[in-house]
Amino acid sequence: MTIGALAAVYPWTKSLHVISLIAWMAGVFYLPRLFVYHCDVPRGSIESERFKVMERRLLKQIMLPAMLSTWLFGILLVLTPGVIDWHAGWWHLKLLCVLLLTGFQGAMGKWRRDFLEDRNRRPQRFYRIANEVPTVLMVVIVIMVIVKPF
Ligand code: HEM
Repeated sequence: MTIGALAAVYPWTKSLHVISLIAWMAGVFYLPRLFVYHCDVPRGSIESERFKVMERRLLKQIMLPAMLSTWLFGILLVLTPGVIDWHAGWWHLKLLCVLLLTGFQGAMGKWRRDFLEDRNRRPQRFYRIANEVPTVLMVVIVIMVIVKPF
């Protein structure tokens, strides 16, 4: 199913999609780094309370709206005539990676609540490794949408 009127605004929809995903990715890359630094400070300290504020603002005021608008403009692109070939492999792999990225954000929401309630038990190493996950997903997504190798 496509919507004919979307063809006329295709470059605008794609621009807004890319603007939104840059904001989303900035947050997705930075929040696990904040968790890495948060592991270093004692529970109940002023620094810990400051990290809690930074983590809440980043997640709720930047990452959540940016994720929603990436999805919104991505779905509008899907509904634009001639953009998606439903049999193309690249599209399925991109969609899988985007779903994983969305799930990763859900996991980060849980980790943030653990820090908020001073009950994080995960070691710093966990967040260092988690930090690499969105990088790998982003690289695969960009190659899929631009190179479209299969
Ligand atoms: C959230 C769900 C998403 C949906 C439904 C979606 C869907 C789409 C669609 C249909 C296109 C147009 C493809 C074309 O014109 O050939 C597109 C373009 C693009 N998407 Fe997404 N996308 C999503 C998320 C993302 C994410 C998370 C990234 C990067 C990390 C991304 C990166 C891109 C890029 C770079 C383009 C432009 C490709 C070009 O220049 O033609 N998308 N997206």
